Amino acid sequence: MPDAWLTSYPGVREHELLRPHSWYRIGGRARYFLELADDAALPQLVARLNGEQVPYLVIGAASNTLFAIDELPGLVIKLTTARISVDGDAVSVSAGTPMPKLAAEMARAGRAGLEFAAGVPGTVGGSVFGNAGAFGGEVNDRLLRAEVVDPEGKRQVMTAAECAFAYRDSAFKRSRDRWVITAATFTTTSEAPATVRARLLAVQKHRRATQPIEQRSLGSTFKNPAGESAGRLIDACGLKGRRIGGAQVSPKHANFIVNLGEASADDVLALMAEMRDRVRERFGIELEPEIRVIGRAKQA
Ligand code: EPU
Repeated sequence: MPDAWLTSYPGVREHELLRPHSWYRIGGRARYFLELADDAALPQLVARLNGEQVPYLVIGAASNTLFAIDELPGLVIKLTTARISVDGDAVSVSAGTPMPKLAAEMARAGRAGLEFAAGVPGTVGGSVFGNAGAFGGEVNDRLLRAEVVDPEGKRQVMTAAECAFAYRDSAFKRSRDRWVITAATFTTTSEAPATVRARLLAVQKHRRATQPIEQRSLGSTFKNPAGESAGRLIDACGLKGRRIGGAQVSPKHANFIVNLGEASADDVLALMAEMRDRVRERFGIELEPEIRVIGRAKQA
């Protein structure tokens, strides 16, 4: 087996349950699993995985990822690197840092521009991957550069232009899924900590008022079609509260599918298919998933 060496790789666990690593609490297993709080060994590891054609998947909080798998072959790498450093207007932050932590640290330091991160439940790496955004801000607006490890295991610095961001999309999401984002540098401006903090609190308040943050979800299930709102369309189809197994269209926001406790990936996929079908029939609009489905993606 090309992946047998992973059995004795430091820190690797076998047949790891992914449920506890998934913000959504929906899992399956990873054949091999490695949590890295330090990415020093990453270049060599990535080079070897590619050299021996072992599949791998990098995750952060898995707050936008649905694991629709029994056991995922290859290695799942969970990055928990949490390093923030400020140098003038530039703030560099490692991929495993939670976005809300970044927002809070910036408010404390009197650095403005990243308040939207308070409304993004994922990590910095995942947010760069998906050009995450909320409440008028997105990664693309503030990113100066991303540090990455390429498939050959070389560290590279990519400019924002090279990341080719689009709405909830990036070069990584489109075609560079074997690249690993290790850190990002954002530009900020100087402002009184209390002012930054007030905006951060407003983001959180608005989020609490409009989104079911007290329940497990993957955020917006579908992207907003041009000039439209997926939530409004799904709502207009009367689907709020619709339930399949343990998955439910949130009664608070129709573009969120909440896990009532024991939802399976198939429950979520079946609900997604129903939402898409109903919106297509009623409005002639094809909803495109925003969430990342690993495994049985074709049913989504
Ligand atoms: N609406 C309804 N019914 C619903 C939900 C929404 O009629 O059930 C209406 C609202 O009243 C509003 C419009 O649809 O007029 C838009 O809704 P909302 O302001 O809640 O924003 P959204 O377009 O649904 C987007 C992002 C969110 C982000 C919020 C706030 C997408 C797909 N979603 O939601 O991002 O937090 O704006 O900025 O772009 C995410 O990407 O995971 C995410 C949560």
